[in-house]
Amino acid sequence: MQATAIAHPNIALVKYWGKRDRVLNLPAVPSLSVTLAPFETRTTVQWGTTQDCFVINGTEATGEAADRVGAFLSLIDAERPPVTIESVNNFPTAAGLASSSSAFAALALAATKAAGQSPTLADLSVLARQGSGSASRSLWGGFVTWSLGQRADGRDSHGVPVAPANHWDLRVLVALVSSEKKDISSRAGMNRTQETSPLFSGWVESGPMDVTQAEDAIRTRDLERLGTVMEHSTMKMVATMLSAQPAVLYMKPATVAVLHAVRNLRARGIAAWATMDAGPNVKVLTTPEAAPAVEAALLEHVPTVHTLRVGEAARLI
Ligand code: PMV
Repeated sequence: MQATAIAHPNIALVKYWGKRDRVLNLPAVPSLSVTLAPFETRTTVQWGTTQDCFVINGTEATGEAADRVGAFLSLIDAERPPVTIESVNNFPTAAGLASSSSAFAALALAATKAAGQSPTLADLSVLARQGSGSASRSLWGGFVTWSLGQRADGRDSHGVPVAPANHWDLRVLVALVSSEKKDISSRAGMNRTQETSPLFSGWVESGPMDVTQAEDAIRTRDLERLGTVMEHSTMKMVATMLSAQPAVLYMKPATVAVLHAVRNLRARGIAAWATMDAGPNVKVLTTPEAAPAVEAALLEHVPTVHTLRVGEAARLI
């Protein structure tokens, strides 16, 4: 059978960094994200062909990338037949946003449908999580918490919707500092941080409170509170990276310049808060009204800025 699904990427407002189970991708902390449009991944899966073939953005995946996708498909059915996948992003892979969140959410949805299964959204999130942790949050639109869960098998660690896309019209601007492939993956950076940073225990202890505050800020549409907790979560995560041995340093000079620009915007009374992930790019949370002024300020430091809005849930088409 064949099925096609669309999913949007998400960025964490409260960060996931560190795992309590590396095989199942179970997080050390709960996290919370916003789903972003118009960026999207569109994935078509044919379940039952003559041989596996995974084409991602026009290029056939080989080696480790193909193995990762093949292993993911086997989670759906250990006795699975050969499968073909065609997956396309409508945004450049080098757009400064982790495309793995939308990729594994779209793949989970399309592949289970093509395999004739009808999982719940929570089941799909548990599945997507095993492809890439952040993908667990891309099944829903709007604002999503990824719960820590208690179970060893991870069945209770999945996305939980906090508010739909139409709850709050916000903008996220991506300041593209660099489009080069990072030299340390989020997976490797996370593991090294967890193993070597003396700050990691403080990070884990304080994570749940950040999620509670962010959920509250979303429900009450309190942007200052949300922006403040987002920056705090980001800076704590970066502190654990910098205190790893050897340090995990994703920031470039322009990253720091953009962080200062965002502070200067706030000093001028413009609503803008910054976040970063496992890379040098900065994402800025703001209102639709303030977005043009924020964009102009960011363009003084980087050549490209993408303006994104709150996106809808993943869906079959
Ligand atoms: O899902 P992964 O393995 O790419 O990890 C994502 C980690 C961060 O982007 C740094 C934080 C997050 O919560 O998305």
